[in-house]
Amino acid sequence: MWVQHGLSVLFSTVFLLVFVTTASASSGGKLINRATSSDGVVRGVNLGGWLLTEKWITPSVYTNDAEDEWHLCEELGKKKCLSNLQDHWSSFFTKSDFEDIKAAGLNSLRIPIGYWAVDVRDDEPYVTGQYPYLIQAVYWAQELGLSILLDLHGAPGSQNGQDNSGLIGPTLFPTNTSNVDRTLNVLKNLTQEFSQDIYGGTVIGIELLNEPRLSSTFTMSGLKDFYTSASEIIRGVSDTINITMHDAFYGPQYWADYNPLANTTNSNNHFTIDTHQYYAFEPLNNLPHDVILEKVCNVSKILKLTNNGLLPIVVGEWSLETGHAPNSTSSTVQNKDDSQAKRTWFRLFFESQLAAYSPNGPNQPSIGWYYWTWKTDYDIDTWSYRRGIAQGYIPKDVSNSSTLAFPILDNGCVDSSFNYTAPRNPTSTGFRDLSSIRAVIWACLLGIAGFVVQL
Ligand SMILES: *[C@@H]1O[C@H](CO)[C@@H](O)[C@H](O)[C@H]1NC(C)=O
Ligand SMILES: *[C@@H]1O[C@H](CO)[C@@H](O)[C@H](O)[C@H]1NC(C)=O
Ligand SMILES: *[C@@H]1O[C@H](CO)[C@@H](O)[C@H](O)[C@H]1NC(C)=O
Ligand SMILES: *[C@@H]1O[C@H](CO)[C@@H](O)[C@H](O)[C@H]1NC(C)=O
Ligand SMILES: *[C@@H]1O[C@H](CO)[C@@H](O)[C@H](O)[C@H]1NC(C)=O
Ligand SMILES: *[C@@H]1O[C@H](CO)[C@@H](O)[C@H](O)[C@H]1NC(C)=O
Ligand SMILES: *[C@@H]1O[C@H](CO)[C@@H](O)[C@H](O)[C@H]1NC(C)=O
Ligand SMILES: *[C@@H]1O[C@H](CO)[C@@H](O)[C@H](O)[C@H]1NC(C)=O
Repeated sequence: MWVQHGLSVLFSTVFLLVFVTTASASSGGKLINRATSSDGVVRGVNLGGWLLTEKWITPSVYTNDAEDEWHLCEELGKKKCLSNLQDHWSSFFTKSDFEDIKAAGLNSLRIPIGYWAVDVRDDEPYVTGQYPYLIQAVYWAQELGLSILLDLHGAPGSQNGQDNSGLIGPTLFPTNTSNVDRTLNVLKNLTQEFSQDIYGGTVIGIELLNEPRLSSTFTMSGLKDFYTSASEIIRGVSDTINITMHDAFYGPQYWADYNPLANTTNSNNHFTIDTHQYYAFEPLNNLPHDVILEKVCNVSKILKLTNNGLLPIVVGEWSLETGHAPNSTSSTVQNKDDSQAKRTWFRLFFESQLAAYSPNGPNQPSIGWYYWTWKTDYDIDTWSYRRGIAQGYIPKDVSNSSTLAFPILDNGCVDSSFNYTAPRNPTSTGFRDLSSIRAVIWACLLGIAGFVVQL
């Protein structure tokens, strides 16, 4: 997750405008691969804050003042940090979470991981021990028929200087070739490990680097050189695993016709572009709802353009947040309001993005999405998918289109003028089916009976 900066938004906007205008004139390349479920749409969630922690997702793990995992472990020392994190890794996601995810009609997981799960040096405070949990996750997913996109979320030196990379501070990843070399080794390890037959092809893709933050020292051509080297490494191990590349906030249109292996003979490319769509960060936060919905619809049009050289596109992160960047106490502020009006908006915003980030016809670049994130310690309303289900503003089974509230227009966007109002209060969402009414009546009767007995 990224605190958006003005420059990249400007870039995406410029490219969006230029692209839409020139779209019909472009002859374009061809789509290289398609999505994964039986109907061809990736519907997924991120397992955020698990194998790479973020304080706002699991404040309970941050027993000290540290703001990122590097400093968490630096302050605790390796021994204590390892034991705290072991407790976290073994409990924050268990098989029953995977079952809940499956039951919600989702078919894929994006799993963020830091380089230190594979390669950590003694002079780095990070601890290692995540890998067995990752392997366990792949087995659970395999058993449940969920696919996995493995996402290198933290690279040595940090690729964006944010907490989600493990280390807040300067972006030192591009400043030392040893950082790049170590990253390539990690990607090689992940590819070698998870392309083995025992994992049954559950890991369908590897994302080379999450949210790289470009600058005068981390240039686009530097990033592209890295994408080329990483793609060569991965293709040296596996012909089929999908290579997913973050758009670096330039928008997927910027990457039209991009091929990091253009100068090699490898023809089996399987490239995907990951773009993150947030309305939580400056300058796209605190926009009026109608402006947000129009922007979502504009994105939808890009993701549905056929024959324009766009690579397959996945929206690897999105949420329902439109105001504040999250922090460890967001839930106490935000979850107080579970009003009908708020849940009505959430439902509209959810379904608008769902329609926008899913393909609705053949040969579209869009292949689907991963919501950020499945849960947080206190299930912040705008960030926790499972809270959305419990509160009824995210459909119980997102793969079943007949459970959706809003109709979809011919342009592929949701009809936001449709008169839908969320049920009066969250616990009433299930009342539409008789069995829960019966359960409530029984509960009342038992309550009265209990009261009478006490008297
Ligand atoms: C990913 O890889 C699988 C297996 O190679 C393939 O079937 C699928 O179409 C690929 N594409 C995406 C975007 O997942
Ligand atoms: C690059 O990193 C390595 C390993 O930390 C270090 O030994 C070396 O001095 C660094 N080089 C530069 C130019 O900073
Ligand atoms: C990848 O790294 C992990 C953690 O160090 C190790 O357990 C595993 O054997 C490695 N896998 C491969 C294929 O090298
Ligand atoms: C391929 O080679 C051309 C000509 O040398 C160069 O301009 C281009 O950047 C190269 N592309 C990649 C992805 O390496
Ligand atoms: C949506 O796209 C249209 C056409 O490019 C543009 O004129 C409009 O300003 C965009 N809307 C928003 C809210 O950005
Ligand atoms: C934390 O986020 C909430 C909203 O989610 C906001 O009201 C509050 O001011 C934030 N706290 C800090 C310390 O930034
Ligand atoms: C889809 O949802 C509708 C409406 O709730 C329900 O009647 C139907 O059984 C569901 N279909 C499947 C395949 O679950
Ligand atoms: C929306 O529907 C509700 C009841 O379903 C009704 O009371 C209200 O008048 C409707 N609003 C509009 C604008 O049609």
